[in-house]
Amino acid sequence: MLSALKDAPPGHLALGAVACFILYQVYIYLTVGASRRKFAADHGCQPAPAYPHREPIFGIDLALKLARYGKSKTFLEQARNRFLAYGNTYSLKVMGKNAITTCEPENIKATLATKFQDFNLSNVRKAAFQPLFGKGVFTNDGPEWEHSRTMLRPNFVRSQVADLDMIEKHVQNLIKEVPTDGSTIDLQDLFFDLTLDTATEFLFGESAHSLGSKSTEENERFSDLFTYCTTMIGDWSRIGIFFGIPDQRYHRFAAGIHKFADRYVEKALAHHRAQKSGMITCENSPNRYIFLDELVKKTNDPIELRSEALNILLAGRDTTASLLACLWNVLSKRPDVWSKLRAEVDSLGGKKPSFEELKDMKYLRYCINEALRLYPVVPSNGRVAIRDTFLPVGGGKDRKSPIFLKKGTLVSYSVFSMHRREDIYGPDAAEYKPERWEKLRPGWEFLPFNGGPRICLGQQLALTEASYTTVRLMQHFRDVESRDSHPWTELLTVTCASNYGAKVALKP
Ligand code: HEM
Ligand SMILES: *[C@@H]1O[C@H](CO)[C@@H](O)[C@H](O)[C@H]1NC(C)=O
Repeated sequence: MLSALKDAPPGHLALGAVACFILYQVYIYLTVGASRRKFAADHGCQPAPAYPHREPIFGIDLALKLARYGKSKTFLEQARNRFLAYGNTYSLKVMGKNAITTCEPENIKATLATKFQDFNLSNVRKAAFQPLFGKGVFTNDGPEWEHSRTMLRPNFVRSQVADLDMIEKHVQNLIKEVPTDGSTIDLQDLFFDLTLDTATEFLFGESAHSLGSKSTEENERFSDLFTYCTTMIGDWSRIGIFFGIPDQRYHRFAAGIHKFADRYVEKALAHHRAQKSGMITCENSPNRYIFLDELVKKTNDPIELRSEALNILLAGRDTTASLLACLWNVLSKRPDVWSKLRAEVDSLGGKKPSFEELKDMKYLRYCINEALRLYPVVPSNGRVAIRDTFLPVGGGKDRKSPIFLKKGTLVSYSVFSMHRREDIYGPDAAEYKPERWEKLRPGWEFLPFNGGPRICLGQQLALTEASYTTVRLMQHFRDVESRDSHPWTELLTVTCASNYGAKVALKP
C-alpha cells in the first residue's frame, strides 16, 4: 500500500485526497447530517437570515470591519445597525466558525438559562482571559465553574450588607481630589481609583490607596497595568487574537499584577496557618470582612487563590466604575434629572444614608437602571453550543421559527442593542428617561447583570456602592456642570465605560 502511494504520480495523489474528502463529506451528510436534519425538522427549525459576507469562509470582511469600528469607537452602535438591517437574529462567520448573533430576549434566555447545559464559554474568551486571570469563575465551565461559584457565593451573601463605613472612607478620599474652584475634573478616573481601593480592601483587607494622600507610585501604576491588560483582553475576546495580540508589555504587566496579588495571597495563607495552629486565638479585627480570608478556608492552592481573587477584582473594579462614570456623564448633562435626584437626596437631610434608606431611594434607582439600560457595562457576550441544540426564535421567513445550532456554533448576544430596541422600550428608547422605570417591569429584555445560573454575584454590592457614592457626592456638591460636549461614546475594555469620561465641574 505504502509503496503504491510512493510510486503514484503527485497528480493522482491529489486526486485521491480530494476523492477521500468528498467521500467523507458524503458519509457525514448521510449519517451525522441525517440525524441533524431530523433533529432540526422535529423541532420545526428554519434557517436564520445570513449576514451578506463578501468572504463567507472565514468572515474576514466582517472581522476587518469590526476592527475598524472598534478603532472609531462605534463598535456597539454598528452592531445595533446590523440588527436593524438583517434582523434581531442572524447567522454569520466569526474567524471561520459558524455563529448566530442575537438581541432577542427569548434567545438570550435560552442560551443563559433554559438551555444552560447546552453551552460553554467560548474558547476565545478562555484563551484571552487565562494568561492574566487564570482559571477562575470567569473562565471556568462545567464542574470547575460550579466549584468556583460554590466557593465564592457564600462570601457574597455575607457581604451583601455592604460595608458602608468602608466605602465612606474611600468616598471621602475621592472628594478630596475634586477641585472646588470650578476647574474641570474627569470623575471617571476617580471612580476607577475609588473602586480599585474599595475592591482591594474588600478582597485583600488592604486598600491599594490609589486615591488620596497615601497613593504611591507603585499603586498608581497598578491601575495602568490593569487597564492596559484588560483593553487587550477585551479586543482579543471581541474581535480575535489578531486584533489583540499580547505583546511584551502585556506579559510584563500581567506579571506585575500577579506579583501584586501574590503578596496578599501569601499573607492570607500565613494568617490562616497561624490561626489553625492556634498561634492567633482571636482575630485582630473581628468585624472586618476580608474576602481572601474566607477563600483560604476553602483552598490553600496559591494559584487558585490568586486567580479567583483577580477574577473578583476585575468584576468589582471595572464594572462599578464604568456604571458610575456613565451615570455621572449623563447626570451632568441633564439638569432636569439632576434636580429631581437632588430633591430625593435632600430628603436625607444631609445624613449618611443607611443600607435601607439607599434601597428606598426610588428615583436614584431609576437613574441607575436607565444608565445600565443605555450604557450597559457588559454590552455584549457569547456562549458556544457544546451539543446540537436550537434557539426558540429567529428562523424562517417570518423569523418566528426555532433555529438549529450545530455543536460548536457560537451564539453572541448584544445586550446593548436589546436595551435600545424601540419595539421593546418605545420610540423614545434612545433617550435617557429615568421616569420610564415607574412603569417598566422588564424580564429578559433588561439584562445588565446577566441571567440564569451565571447571573452576576455582585449585583447588590455594585448597586449599593454606586448608590452610596452618588448620594454622598451629591450631598457634598450642590451643583454640577458638564465640561464635555460629546454625545456618550463607548470605551471598550473587558467592560464598557465612557470614552470622554465624566468631565465636570462640581460646586460645593
Ligand atoms: C455595575 C456593576 C456590575 C455589572 C453590570 C455586572 C455584570 C455582570 C455580568 C453581565 C456577568 C456575566 C458575565 C458572563 O457570564 O459572561 C457578571 C458575572 C459576575 N459578576 Fe458582576 N457585574 C457588576 C458588578 C460586580 C461586582 C461588584 C462583583 C463582585 C465584587 C461582581 C461579581 C461577579 C461574578 C463573580 C460573576 C461571575 C458569575 C459566574 O460566572 O458564575 N460583579 N456580572
Ligand atoms: C465544556 O466545558 C467542560 C468543562 O471545562 C469541558 O469538560 C467540556 O469538554 C467542554 N465542552 C466542549 C464541547 O468543549
